[in-house]
Amino acid sequence: MNDNPGDIPLLFTPIKLRSVVARNRIVSSPMCQYVSVDGAPTEWQLVNFGRFAMSGTGIVFGEETAVEPRGRKTHHCAGIYHDRHIEAYRRITDFIKSLGSVPAIQLGHCGRRASAHGPLKDRAPLTETDARQGLQPWQGIAPSALPENPGRPIPRAMNLDDIRGNIAAWRDAAQRSVDAGYDICEIHGAHGYLIHQFLSPVSNKRTDGYGGSLEGRMRFALEVVDAVRAVWPKDRPLFFRTSAVEGAGGEWGIEDTLALARELKAHGVDVIDCSSGGVMGDGPMPAIPRVPGYQVGYSREIKREVAIPTVAVGMITEPGHAEAILREGHADFIALARELMDNPNWPLHAARALGYGDPLNLVHAREAQRLRLRERHREEYPPGTEVEIPFGPGEQVSYSWAARSAGPRTRR
Ligand SMILES: Cc1cc2nc3c(=O)[nH]c(=O)nc-3n(C[C@H](O)[C@H](O)[C@H](O)COP(=O)(O)O)c2cc1C
Repeated sequence: MNDNPGDIPLLFTPIKLRSVVARNRIVSSPMCQYVSVDGAPTEWQLVNFGRFAMSGTGIVFGEETAVEPRGRKTHHCAGIYHDRHIEAYRRITDFIKSLGSVPAIQLGHCGRRASAHGPLKDRAPLTETDARQGLQPWQGIAPSALPENPGRPIPRAMNLDDIRGNIAAWRDAAQRSVDAGYDICEIHGAHGYLIHQFLSPVSNKRTDGYGGSLEGRMRFALEVVDAVRAVWPKDRPLFFRTSAVEGAGGEWGIEDTLALARELKAHGVDVIDCSSGGVMGDGPMPAIPRVPGYQVGYSREIKREVAIPTVAVGMITEPGHAEAILREGHADFIALARELMDNPNWPLHAARALGYGDPLNLVHAREAQRLRLRERHREEYPPGTEVEIPFGPGEQVSYSWAARSAGPRTRR
């Protein structure tokens, strides 16, 4: 998977998964926007995710997209739980594809983390005050009737009918994702949301076949995977995002994740997206320090032990670091979230930094043509060149500049 055919940096070496080819290994990581209207995306998503395709990102994710209305964290979270959503997402996937990127959807269900304010407010649970303003609270569902933290709303423990209905919702959402034009589907099994709530012994205290042993706790995740895989086309890849370790006070660790990843692979998952955190307990596990590449070790372990392609993500900002992660065989893809928000043209800048043949091939010809012209100007007039700037038919002003960053010096 990591063999490099030539001098192309691995970051820019195309990769084929099933029959889907990504032009490079850069992934814009899923990012919730909290601006959807009744689950449907707006212009914001088209522009926000579209800009990553414009800058040459190989795989462009949207955001966690709920498979049923109560699986949203807030009233403004994205969803794909109704057929009317298909057309709205189709507009985004068409645009992303027209620019040469692969559109990817992350399907999710927040479980007990439902019915809250968004991050711009305080993420607090909705109350009767919100209800009076049209934002009706609702009860979340979960494997067990345990709140996320003391003081948070208590979810309803899912019975077997709930589980069956929920799995059907994942299947239907996956089918709508096909119809909406997505080429990659990721199942969100991380960050303390419903699937993770089933996996973790901290949040899953069930005594039936969906709880107890590791095998029992993995059952819901694997049934979701089977339901999605059954409708997700055989020629398109399925990703699964995992919390490789669950973070402060948690119990789920890397050995559990390796066992899960082996099962996921056997059930038709093609790529493990290696994240962490989301369920907290009283155990001794310390918090994960957010240092550059803090989750790369999880990706390395999963890739090495399970022989499955992985995505590394988390505080990866430097092109050289991204390239080294791939060269060392620690991951097959590099996902960025906040860095792309900070610098949407990161792929173009990374190509320049890594000396990739013709970086401007990454962007649309409409932009590349103008940027090439600017490069020619720079070659023609290197820093230090003395030029005459015309101020009128008979008047010229000498002008020179020391370097691109220095201010101009004019003599009149
Ligand atoms: C605004 C924002 C929204 C996010 N929403 C999601 C999401 O919907 N699903 C998900 O799995 N991760 C989500 N994440 C986590 C990112 O995908 C990523 O894993 C994390 O930010 C670490 O990468 P970074 O250091 O490059 O930002 C979000 C992150 C940010 C900054």
